[in-house]
Amino acid sequence: MTTTAQPPATAAAEQDAMSAAFDAAVAADARIEPRDWMPDAYRATLIRQMAQHAHSEIIGMQPEANWISRAPSLRRKAILMAKVQDEAGHGLYLYSAAETLGVSRDELLDKLHTGRQRYSSIFNYPTLTWADVGAVGWLVDGAAITNQVPLCRCSYGPYARAMVRICKEESFHQRQGYELLLALSRGTPAQHAMAQDAVDRWWWPSLMMFGPPDDESSHSAQSMTWKIKRHSNDELRQRFVDICVPQAEVLGLTLPDPELRWNASREAYDYGPIDWTEFQEVLRGNGPCNDQRMEQRRAAHEEGTWVRDAGVAYAAKHGEAAA
Ligand SMILES: [Fe+2]
Ligand SMILES: [Fe+2]
Repeated sequence: MTTTAQPPATAAAEQDAMSAAFDAAVAADARIEPRDWMPDAYRATLIRQMAQHAHSEIIGMQPEANWISRAPSLRRKAILMAKVQDEAGHGLYLYSAAETLGVSRDELLDKLHTGRQRYSSIFNYPTLTWADVGAVGWLVDGAAITNQVPLCRCSYGPYARAMVRICKEESFHQRQGYELLLALSRGTPAQHAMAQDAVDRWWWPSLMMFGPPDDESSHSAQSMTWKIKRHSNDELRQRFVDICVPQAEVLGLTLPDPELRWNASREAYDYGPIDWTEFQEVLRGNGPCNDQRMEQRRAAHEEGTWVRDAGVAYAAKHGEAAA
């Protein structure tokens, strides 16, 4: 019997094989797990997106935590505290999920604190009245859910699994905001006016949460090929508008867009133009609360140094005892 000696696989051939396995897994809707080979650009995209998502969760605690001490009843206070605490938990799941890609939480927080990574621009708007807590829950958490439900099927396993639990909690957030606005809308004329004013201020920034229009979105096409993203920015924005219009009717509140109307041929609501100049300005750091949010975040990090130190000391002691 004769054997034919095979030439050793070259590094390039191995690379091709791993790349083909990755493409096949993505095509088959299988999950990519932390120890699997993945293209560098896929890893970098996920780190950027998951970090931005995690940062948004913890910065997003600020505008609403602002109202915990002024909630109008014990029931409302308990609900709001639970919601703000959930957001801290979402940050934790997402930083942990991002760590599976080989970055540390310290590194990500450092990038946030030095302005090298972003958080969602929506959190640079102020919460001026109690009704804003309702509008944020209904619209901001509602937009977040619309964006995030498809992420439960994202190709990266740890991100997809984190999103399942996050989405369940986000729907509680959306419902509490809706119920709060409904109570105000059915209350006194002053309460109704306060609810309407909050919706007037939060509607357009919520539509901007879906990101720039599809033809201007630089990361979208590649993310869709990798199945990190499943729907385009404009598709998700449309879905959100179509969900909100009937809900606003039940609330007895008006969405601040004179061009909003049902389009029978598209079977969707048409809506007016979005002021992308405002979006760009907020992204550039010129939103109403950008500086305040970052100052508060950096201060919270510094003031929490002793907690992290205590955690490390406890872990070291625990490790020694176990050894
Ligand atoms: Fe959240
Ligand atoms: Fe939320």
